[in-house]
Amino acid sequence: PLVSSKIMLTAAQRGHYAIAAFNIHNLETLKAVVETAREERAPVILQATPGTCRHAGVNFLHAMAKTAALEADIPIALHLDHGDDVELAFKCIDGGFTSIMVDGSKLPFEQNVEMVRKVIDYARPRGVQVEAELGRVGGVEEELSVSEYEAAMTEPEKAAEYVERTGVDSLAVAIGTAHGMYKGEPKLDFERLEKIKNLVAVPLVLHGCSGVPDDMVKKAITLGICKINIATDIKIAFAGALLDYFKDNPKEVDPRKYFKPAQDAVKDVVKSKIRLAGSCDKA
Ligand code: 13P
Ligand code: ZN
Ligand code: NA
Repeated sequence: PLVSSKIMLTAAQRGHYAIAAFNIHNLETLKAVVETAREERAPVILQATPGTCRHAGVNFLHAMAKTAALEADIPIALHLDHGDDVELAFKCIDGGFTSIMVDGSKLPFEQNVEMVRKVIDYARPRGVQVEAELGRVGGVEEELSVSEYEAAMTEPEKAAEYVERTGVDSLAVAIGTAHGMYKGEPKLDFERLEKIKNLVAVPLVLHGCSGVPDDMVKKAITLGICKINIATDIKIAFAGALLDYFKDNPKEVDPRKYFKPAQDAVKDVVKSKIRLAGSCDKA
């Protein structure tokens, strides 16, 4: 069965590695992630954004993930990514999701705390883990668009107060990563990460990991990041392989044929990110 991400993240924190969390959009991407995680013997988190919940449906997503978890002999969690609406969070919890991110990062501090508390009060008795964000990760994640001006780094002292007052299970930090791709090389504030880690006991989460050089991700993991989020790299791999396929085979109409190279391209991304996270053989 699907498991809560809490056990995975706690083990990762103790073992100084990270769990790779992948945004999936359909059967093909979900299977590519799960098959690769099995091959690598890695616990894995499947994530769906509100947009994906609308596209695929909460119940369809859960049914696919649950089936994958029954067949796979590795821990799999199903996570709502960037849930910015309490009702959707409740719906996902009722629908069998085992992990929820409450994204109140666009709200003022007090309202952010209040929103997270509401979801935790519902999630905790049901064994569902809750991630929340303080500060604002920049870039574009589907409907969520944060300009460079609006993006705000996590303040370490505020983060400590936030975790204490919300009782959240894991904390997403803004230390310079952004959703989507980067114009130049991202600049990560490792000093800030270290300060946060010293003040906050719960596992820390790094959003926006697509496009971040491997050595920076590795360093962030050594400084306390326990979950790395990957969405854009998967989208690029999937679409790129499809484009290539149709260039060579413009007349092909069989989805089982044209999705195959796209799925394989996603598998390559997943394998490299799992290895980067250091979660191989931790299942
Ligand atoms: P990327 O767009 O860098 O893949 O970020 C993914 C993410 O943070 C999902 O929540
Ligand atoms: Zn994110
Ligand atoms: Na990114």
